[in-house]
Amino acid sequence: MKKLLQTCLLLLMPLGVFASAGMELEDADIDLSNKKSLENGAHLYVQYCLGCHSTKYIRYLNIADDFDIDQEEILEKVAPDGAGIYDKMLSAMNAHDAKKWFGTKPPDLSLIARSRGADWLYSYLRGFYIDTKKPLGVNNTVFPDVGMPNPLWQLQGTQEAIYENIDGQNVITELTLVEQGTMTPEEFDQAVNDIVNFLVYAGEPIQEERRSMGKYVLFFIFMFGLLAYLLKREYWKDIH
Ligand code: HEC
Repeated sequence: MKKLLQTCLLLLMPLGVFASAGMELEDADIDLSNKKSLENGAHLYVQYCLGCHSTKYIRYLNIADDFDIDQEEILEKVAPDGAGIYDKMLSAMNAHDAKKWFGTKPPDLSLIARSRGADWLYSYLRGFYIDTKKPLGVNNTVFPDVGMPNPLWQLQGTQEAIYENIDGQNVITELTLVEQGTMTPEEFDQAVNDIVNFLVYAGEPIQEERRSMGKYVLFFIFMFGLLAYLLKREYWKDIH
């Protein structure tokens, strides 16, 4: 019994960590029909994330086809220099170096939006703050003690945490921008939202098609049902 209680407590501990951050997840505004946002998200992803993270199930060709954008434009504006249209979105960083530098290998992000969710990603990318006690000098509100540096600090600037004493515990209630980056906070939120939009697309590239196909499937079921009903009425007409 004691063991069971201990296990339950251990399982609940991560919840405690999130609760102690004192901040809730922010809502991402996901719209997979917004091709401009997806293209910008892919562009920012290549610039700021691909150095460490692959998205190995996506090729540049998929992006061109799915976003209805010319292949030349994708090669010019999205893909890194020298990449071909058939190339997968693979990071050039090797696992050995990554382990040495960050203590862990940056995971492939193909399915991250499905495991973490869009709101988590949106809050994570906006949730870095200065913490001089950490080896990288930063910490994160939704991923405490994270081993990833803030990849977007030049765009965002630097944030500091505001702590409040709640029930005898020092918890973070807010982050404030102490030095603005190259973007205004609104522009930065939009940029992060575009990256998350792209990662949601990467998690299930067929999503838009599936949704639009759903309408036809429902229409077919409805028409077929109607036909079957009329047929049934016709057959049973003379049976009493
Ligand atoms: C300098 C290398 C580097 C860059 C650039 C980088 N990351 Fe990371 N990222 C890491 C490392 C290392 C981890 C693992 C952190 C850990 O487990 O403590 C990580 C973890 C993550 C995670 C959490 C994965 C999980 O465990 O759930 C997400 C999400 C993520 N990165 C997204 C991004 C995005 C989006 C970008 C671009 C805006 C980006 N990263 C840029 C190194 C990087």
